[in-house]
Amino acid sequence: MKSKAAVAFEVGAPLQIETIDVAPPQAGEVLIEVKAAGLCHSDMHAIDGHWNFNSGFPGIMGHEAAGVVLEVGPGVTRVRPGDHVVPFIPECGDCACCRSGRTNNCEASFTDSGPGSRLSYQGRRLHPFLGLGLFTQYAVVDDFRLVPVRRDAPFEQLFYFGCGATTGLSSVLFKAEVLPGSSVIVFGLGGIGLNVVQGARFAGASTIIAVDVNPAREELARRMGATHFVNSRLVEGDLVGHLNELTRGGADFTFEAIGNVTLMRQAFDAAHFAYGSCTIIGIAPDADLLQLPPTALITGRRLQGAAMGGARGMTHIPKLVDWMMDGKLDIASLVTAHLPLEQINEGYAMQKRGEGVRSYVTF
Ligand code: CU
Repeated sequence: MKSKAAVAFEVGAPLQIETIDVAPPQAGEVLIEVKAAGLCHSDMHAIDGHWNFNSGFPGIMGHEAAGVVLEVGPGVTRVRPGDHVVPFIPECGDCACCRSGRTNNCEASFTDSGPGSRLSYQGRRLHPFLGLGLFTQYAVVDDFRLVPVRRDAPFEQLFYFGCGATTGLSSVLFKAEVLPGSSVIVFGLGGIGLNVVQGARFAGASTIIAVDVNPAREELARRMGATHFVNSRLVEGDLVGHLNELTRGGADFTFEAIGNVTLMRQAFDAAHFAYGSCTIIGIAPDADLLQLPPTALITGRRLQGAAMGGARGMTHIPKLVDWMMDGKLDIASLVTAHLPLEQINEGYAMQKRGEGVRSYVTF
């Protein structure tokens, strides 16, 4: 079948809107119609060639979306036609990570998904980014990459659970396991950091300090549950010292949601020396090093990270969607723009300028 799609022909080039060919799903595969696809920073890193993980050119970017199952290939039991789905990190169920419960690192993520792609343009196979490739109205995805979800959840919010919302919320709730009454500091208030803030509120943290250089983020951070906003550019003197004053000597939980090693070090130092935990969510460039004095760990601080916030798609995404539908999580306030596919490059340009939090495209 034919499908409207945004094609990434080469590194650094703007995405081009084209009509591509989609071959029928084979064994274990599912044809879906993408109803909303979010613009996440990781796509941008792949487009710009800064991140080569399971991406290739020509390719179809897009990994944060929600859609409907149209057709299933032989042997598919996880979903049926008509199901609403959120594509996510695979859960093959069989690799060492899946068997140990860490499905967020399922080894199927590392398998090059290019050769098996059902998407092509003028006879050239298109590489689906991260094994998903969702900037196309119709996509073919392995069944173990799809999480079926309740049908009454709106697609224009549901898509966000395919990456950003789930990563931010899971880091707090399922990885760091923030406790009621605790103090939390969040460095970086983008599409993930703001979800860390609301995850901390949902977990019952009593002090939630949101740190960013953009004063325009304060209002949203407070709406998500921040009790303090610190504009790190306006702090006179030492930022960590200032944060330590607010937390009386160090926070119970800190998070870095940007991918900057200087901020990671500050987040680590701002965690309480004896019992604080620092969780790294942002992805820093491969060449960067994070330096720490080992004694800062000996005292008892913990430093950890987790791909996708440690989320297990089938276990956690339906739960998070329920909490949104119950009004306990505010996803709508973070979805700040809706664009037609034709304006996808403009959407990424907005993101680079720091405008809005999360935008999505429809076809
Ligand atoms: Cu993403």
